Amino acid sequence: MKTPTKTQFLSPEDIAYIVQTKGMKKTLEELTDYITQDFLRWDAFEKSARIANHTSEGVIELMPISDKDYYTFKYVNGHPKNTHFGLPTVMAFGVLAAMNTGMPELISELTLTTALRTAGTSVMAARVLARKNSTSMAIIGNGAQSEFQALAFHYLLGIKELRLFDIDVAATDKCIKNLSHLPVRLVPCRSIAEAVFGADIITTITADKTNATILTPEMIQPGVHINGVGGDCPGKTELHVDILLRSSLFVEYEPQTRIEGELQQLPENFAVTEIRKVLQGSAKGRTHNDQVTIFDSVGFALEDYSSLRYMRDAAASLGLIHSIALIPDLINPKDLYRLIGSSSQKLVKVK
Ligand SMILES: NC(=O)c1ccc[n+]([C@@H]2O[C@H](COP(=O)([O-])OP(=O)(O)OC[C@H]3O[C@@H](n4cnc5c(N)ncnc54)[C@H](O)[C@@H]3O)[C@@H](O)[C@H]2O)c1
Repeated sequence: MKTPTKTQFLSPEDIAYIVQTKGMKKTLEELTDYITQDFLRWDAFEKSARIANHTSEGVIELMPISDKDYYTFKYVNGHPKNTHFGLPTVMAFGVLAAMNTGMPELISELTLTTALRTAGTSVMAARVLARKNSTSMAIIGNGAQSEFQALAFHYLLGIKELRLFDIDVAATDKCIKNLSHLPVRLVPCRSIAEAVFGADIITTITADKTNATILTPEMIQPGVHINGVGGDCPGKTELHVDILLRSSLFVEYEPQTRIEGELQQLPENFAVTEIRKVLQGSAKGRTHNDQVTIFDSVGFALEDYSSLRYMRDAAASLGLIHSIALIPDLINPKDLYRLIGSSSQKLVKVK
């Protein structure tokens, strides 16, 4: 029997179509469910920390993971100065392949999808870490990811007030404009201290390849939950080390976060809890209302595995299926050479 050799392709426009058709709330709910279900079957996955290649300007990373059925990887970069050149700070694409044959069944954009899955993962953690009655969130850093965090926390966690700050006022203005349709109080702030004051949850999602101190200890009130998303590679952090020392730290995949997260500022034996243990019930999340909790998010390959699976299912349910010929379609799989002679494509010499 011949296995199909066509690879399904999902463009950024396709992902936007899925979100528009399903609605943002439903998309975030379903995607967060897929991610949570996969975190609950943690042991089914062959995991590794991502492979990162650095320059002084940024980083390019490969993020592989597999279970018995599928192998996925994401290519992603992080170049905080990119916006000056008209490129996003974070750009990504990825592949989902069948484990039994290695056939790449899906190649998809993951730039938009990363913003959705990062917000979904943040909510997954906040559900077990933030105080139950949380209604107000500060967002420090109002760039490409920020609206997705705002929407996920509003729709899935009931956040009703967003306190926004960015060193770039135009970024905050853009964020407010994009969120103005929500039944949410949007508060532009003049400083980080003003934004975080009184907030139940603080999301830090800035981009700068430096050991920044976006949050300092005097800004942190008892009971707050910090969703730390922007510190995600060596030499790129957002929280003052003293905040970490007086908080409970929760991570995605400990070996990776020790290298890339806020955790890189602490000794190797500093105790942290993998969030999947809280979800599985083998560790506690928040234990009392005065506890300061931190989700030290760096982004883990499993979230992209879930996202590729989700977007493929969503595309199929909407009849959105186009494919590309990434792998040669051979009459005799041992006769690769025949392809050269039989190619119907004419080479056009560009002058
Ligand atoms: N943890 C994850 O899974 C994950 C996923 C995606 C992105 N990220 C990280 O999130 C960060 C934001 O990504 P993005 O795509 O929104 O980037 P972006 O460049 O679009 O936006 C970043 C914003 O941060 C602002 N900023 C920089 N320094 C600041 C400071 N000191 N105070 C306040 N604001 C400041 C910038 O002006 C900019 O508007 C990046 O660092 C990225 O690497 C993490």
